Amino acid sequence: MTAQAQIKASFPVRRMDFGFEGVPKYWFHNDPFLTHFLSNLSSLFPEGEFFFVTSMRNIRDKIDDPVMQKEISAFIGQEAMHSKEHKVFNDYATAQGIDVDYFHRRVGKLLKFGHKILSHRQQLAVTCALEHFTATVAAQLMRREDQTNEMHDPVMRKMWLWHAIEESEHKSVCYDAYQRLYTDYPTRAGTMVVAMIILSAVVADQQVRLMAKDGQLFNFKSWGNGLWKLFGYKGFITQVLPELFDYFRPGFHPEDHDSEALEQKYKAELGFQG
Ligand SMILES: [Fe+2]
Ligand SMILES: [Fe+2]
Repeated sequence: MTAQAQIKASFPVRRMDFGFEGVPKYWFHNDPFLTHFLSNLSSLFPEGEFFFVTSMRNIRDKIDDPVMQKEISAFIGQEAMHSKEHKVFNDYATAQGIDVDYFHRRVGKLLKFGHKILSHRQQLAVTCALEHFTATVAAQLMRREDQTNEMHDPVMRKMWLWHAIEESEHKSVCYDAYQRLYTDYPTRAGTMVVAMIILSAVVADQQVRLMAKDGQLFNFKSWGNGLWKLFGYKGFITQVLPELFDYFRPGFHPEDHDSEALEQKYKAELGFQG
């Protein structure tokens, strides 16, 4: 075995095969807004993660460090698996009348346009920005046991926690590649601003459409409760804003936010060996 073949990535690629039959309609908090919010995010993953994978494949040959090459391969493996499993869930949700497939196609067109007009450096900067957002939300999901305990369906709970663990495990890979190749702060920071504006607009639009399609548009109780849980005092998103904004610090690195203990806790709970 060559020395290169002996090098291993710092995290594994886990093959998953979830079955979603029987997932209740409002499996999160028994609430339309909050359940649709997670379906909303899920609709973005297959195409979004394909974009991440492509942006890393674009630059992989420019990286001459064999350890970083292994990390990139493992990153691609994890994201490909997330993409696949969320697509299976999205197809299930669409069959249940929650039409996330429409969003999937629309986001796909937007990201294809991004591939066409953005340079490899800019595409990688988009991936770094969205990976930081994903890793921050993933750590928060693991931290906020009060939220994970409201995931009443065991399969959905396992899928979201598996995804959260892996987002934490690979949170530095794109950033390290970007820093090694470009170290261009204005592009990194500017891209985060644009990415967050577009992401917020897409998620808000999709949330309104999901609630309307489900006949819940005027369910003010669900809207109020959901928005408070996300953006209110001690809200899920409110609490992560400092960590999210830390991305703009010139010396920022994803590992400055330690999520190791959370990863270990949930790996043990889900029975993951590595
Ligand atoms: Fe992912
Ligand atoms: Fe990721």
